Amino acid sequence: TTPLRLGIAGLGTVGTGTVKIVRQKAHLLAVRAGRPIEISAVSARTRDKDRGVNLAAYDWEDDPVALAKRDDVDVFVELMGGSDGPAKAATEAALKAGKDVVTANKAMLALHGQELAQLAEDHGAVLRFEAAVAGGIPVIKSLTEGLAGNEVTRVLGVMNGTCNYILTRMESAGLPYDTVFEEANQLGFLEADPELDVGGIDAGHKLALLSSIAFGTQVNFAGVELEGIGRILIEDIRAAADMGYRIKLLGVAQMTGRGLEQRMSPCLVPAASPLGQLEGGTNMVVIEGDAVDQVVLRGPGAGEGPTASAVMGDVMDIARGLRVTTFGQPAKTLSEAQPAQSAAP
Ligand code: NDP
Ligand code: HSE
Repeated sequence: TTPLRLGIAGLGTVGTGTVKIVRQKAHLLAVRAGRPIEISAVSARTRDKDRGVNLAAYDWEDDPVALAKRDDVDVFVELMGGSDGPAKAATEAALKAGKDVVTANKAMLALHGQELAQLAEDHGAVLRFEAAVAGGIPVIKSLTEGLAGNEVTRVLGVMNGTCNYILTRMESAGLPYDTVFEEANQLGFLEADPELDVGGIDAGHKLALLSSIAFGTQVNFAGVELEGIGRILIEDIRAAADMGYRIKLLGVAQMTGRGLEQRMSPCLVPAASPLGQLEGGTNMVVIEGDAVDQVVLRGPGAGEGPTASAVMGDVMDIARGLRVTTFGQPAKTLSEAQPAQSAAP
């Protein structure tokens, strides 16, 4: 049987996690996919770095664009990060060469996802990004497969683990925002630019991707109303608790008479609700559909294992022959599919 050959660009937290799964579970993956999953070549900024995983068997490419175009790469796995620069250049190169792409890069997709999805379609490639939204929670797969018979009415949730950690720690330890922010920094939780986390931008990227998939609209990050957690005081948290509420950085997307509304902002949620009970760095996504009513998904939104788990889910789908770009269907495709008048329910 023909192996599926990966080229992995980015060997940080998620990249090394992905290499580990491919190496450690080779037999299991081959059985499940019906073909071996192999790594042809890898790329990162620094070649001589101990990454805790043996890379000796793989070719090394300094240039991720060259990696993306290699003849022995079927799937380009982009795990470098950054909305533009090498991540975007290499993703474009891979898609133009007709290679499938799996990425965890929510920033790149929130800003350029629509054009990348179009590029994939134009070149017969697929673009998949389960890991980009809520890390280890298979939320995109749930929406596009298990819940495909629903009209989604609303998606909401906590999609940034760092903010949830900060808010829950402020409450449990009675510490002010600045102290807990510094703690989170020391623990290595914050993005290189912390404003991405605490400004709600990272969570906003995820919400824009999720709502595009849920409502079949073009991804529109600029349309997300954003407010971060930087102005939350310990007094706000205490006042909320006195009333039986907790403060969460909550993303909500819903279709209204005015069109798609997307908001990412600190909200009061009942302390006894599933969202209210969400602790630490965990994520939760609630999907409401006309047929299913409500589905609640909870799990780790970040980290080596959980994020690599989602990356591998996409790789396995491609290995099995699923040729679907998990992106919001272009609006024109949806409206073309919509019957002008339905005769009977
Ligand atoms: P890291 O910073 O840990 O790793 C980034 C990797 O990319 C490093 O190996 C780095 O090389 C390499 N890299 C950076 N720039 C270049 C370049 N110009 N050329 C070649 N290689 C480059 O990032 P993460 O693993 O944490 O994140 C990767 C992606 O996954 C990002 O898009 C992130 O948003 C996303 N993600 C991460 C999650 C997490 O929990 N970490 C969760 C969900 C999504 P070197 O090691 O040599 O410096
Ligand atoms: N900074 C992100 C978070 C990483 O805290 O959720 C995962 O996307």
